[in-house]
Amino acid sequence: MSKPFYLTTPIYYVNDRPHIGHTYTTVLADAVARFRRQMGEPVRFLTGTDEHGQKVEKAAIAKGITPKALADEVVANYTDLFARMGMTHDRFIRTTDADHRETVQTWFKKLLDAGDIYKAEYEGLYSVSDEAFVTETQAKELQAQGLAHQLITLKEETYFFRLSKYEKPLLEWYAAHPDFVQPDFRFNEVKRFVEGGLQDLSISRTTIQWGIPVPGDEKHVVYVWFDALLNYLTGAGEAWPAELQIVGKDILRFHAVYWPAFLMAMGLPLPKTILAHGWWLSGNDKMSKSKGNVVRPDTLLKFGNDALRFYFLRDMQVGHDRDFSFEGFMDRLNADLANGLGNLASRSLSMIQRYRNGAVPMPTALDASDAEVDQNGRKVMAAFVEKAKANDFHGALDGLWAYLRSLDAYIVQAEPWKLAKDETNAAKLDAVLANLYRALRATAPCLASVMPELAQQLWENLGLAGKVAEQRLDGLVWDAPAVGPVVAEPKPLFARIDKDKEMSELEATNAPAAETKPALDVPEIREVVDADTFFKVDLRVGQILEAERVPKSDKLIKMKVDIGVEQRCIVGGIGKAYEPTDLLNKLVVVVANLAPRKLMGIESHGMLLAASDNASKPYLVAPPTDAKPGFLVK
Ligand code: MSP
Repeated sequence: MSKPFYLTTPIYYVNDRPHIGHTYTTVLADAVARFRRQMGEPVRFLTGTDEHGQKVEKAAIAKGITPKALADEVVANYTDLFARMGMTHDRFIRTTDADHRETVQTWFKKLLDAGDIYKAEYEGLYSVSDEAFVTETQAKELQAQGLAHQLITLKEETYFFRLSKYEKPLLEWYAAHPDFVQPDFRFNEVKRFVEGGLQDLSISRTTIQWGIPVPGDEKHVVYVWFDALLNYLTGAGEAWPAELQIVGKDILRFHAVYWPAFLMAMGLPLPKTILAHGWWLSGNDKMSKSKGNVVRPDTLLKFGNDALRFYFLRDMQVGHDRDFSFEGFMDRLNADLANGLGNLASRSLSMIQRYRNGAVPMPTALDASDAEVDQNGRKVMAAFVEKAKANDFHGALDGLWAYLRSLDAYIVQAEPWKLAKDETNAAKLDAVLANLYRALRATAPCLASVMPELAQQLWENLGLAGKVAEQRLDGLVWDAPAVGPVVAEPKPLFARIDKDKEMSELEATNAPAAETKPALDVPEIREVVDADTFFKVDLRVGQILEAERVPKSDKLIKMKVDIGVEQRCIVGGIGKAYEPTDLLNKLVVVVANLAPRKLMGIESHGMLLAASDNASKPYLVAPPTDAKPGFLVK
């Protein structure tokens, strides 16, 4: 078997849930993987997570759990999403996987022995707030912003990778491989950066614990990029070198400079192409939690996987940035899928049904307009394949949809409903129906990599058996005899979206603004009371022994509470937040000297402390589990 077409996505940090930007990278890679399989190539497709480093370490400390436990929790956001979206990766790699640790340590040691990694004292300006050494330029920027006080001079022992040695070899490599980085304008940025000179790269840290230890010198951990980039080797199996490595523009430098330099030092072949895509923006701005403009894939997946995949691939011209808008998203789907392709397919199939009893005719004679549609169809499908080969799904889909639109005009012009009324026009009608059918039959396999489910449905509606994803694209036959008959009642390909309804729903639930921190709904701090007044309130630890709902009330729960010295009947308004069974044996804080009062006819002797703001449900205040009923709270 020939060497697989090996393609990779970046591995995602586990400090956040995926947003549409992260989802996009893996969707693009998945489309390429599916496309290549349809070209008859064996494929290996790798995606995964980048789990070491300071951010995860800090977040875990804040949560009081180990970094690994935090990574295990967050990684599920990615693995679940990719599973739901039917991604076809061969491995989901985690940098905490044992085989990856071995790869990193083995290569670290080899490069150390060979002299490409060396240990030295590093003295430089260090930004306390970023916890990182800064370059002179960065230091100047901080000074200009009045943040010079954050800079200190720090000495640290660190391992360096001899990046400077690879400056010339990299420039030579770039010159000899004009396709190494796509698109060209990004390649130029990379070249300019390297031409500006390369300094050796610090690749270990002693200030972080959460990482892969440097073999033989365990107070150092391998710095995240040396660790992260090597995932592509761990996950390669026998497939290295990669044909295609897809990355976002922000991490191109690591992939087009450091990574090939590491590989040169290792004596391994370099990847064929690194493709840098642009960013999904929101409100024409970078998505960020603090700005509250993050768009999550779940908001869009209610319209189906295919809808999101299509939008991503159709609207984003690889390399450029693209602004996301819900309206644009829905307009695109309605125009291209519900109308465009959806209408064309249902019209064409129903005409074949009505005029030819579902049997697809063979054309006998083509007039000029039929011949044009026939010729264009062959060209467009070939162009689709060429563009997809160049990873340009935007261009491929653009061309295909222009052709589909031309078919609408072809129908209007040919007026099949009139042709059908007169037997002498039978040959022309055959030609029109055959052209429409062939166009759809070629469209379905082209779309299989972009919209797997929709393409399969179209294939079945055409009366064709088997899996559309198994149809080869390197041998698409435009004029193969039809096998039909077409399906009498085809399933719709895409249901039209009610834009107004969705807009108001989306805005209410997951519109970007909804992710900003909600304002606390609490009153002003109350008037001052002196300590004596406060200490008049008798607070005790209690334990709930029995709990039942008060009949006819969804809010009130009647409880028997042990407060050490006695058992009390207390009625609390917590029925919307808790089930009685949830309350049994719970430790609570009781206001023990509150005057009794009647609630729905039941006398309540005290009150339970609960935390909430006016907008949220009450959370019962819980003493530590080793507190005993009757303890004073003071
Ligand atoms: N862990 C590193 C990559 C290491 S690869 C050896 C990393 N992780 S990340 O989670 O921050 O980003 C992963 C990918 O998501 C990057 O390619 C990045 O460009 C991409 N995106 C993050 N935000 C994006 C958008 N808004 N739009 C499109 N892609 C974006 O960097």
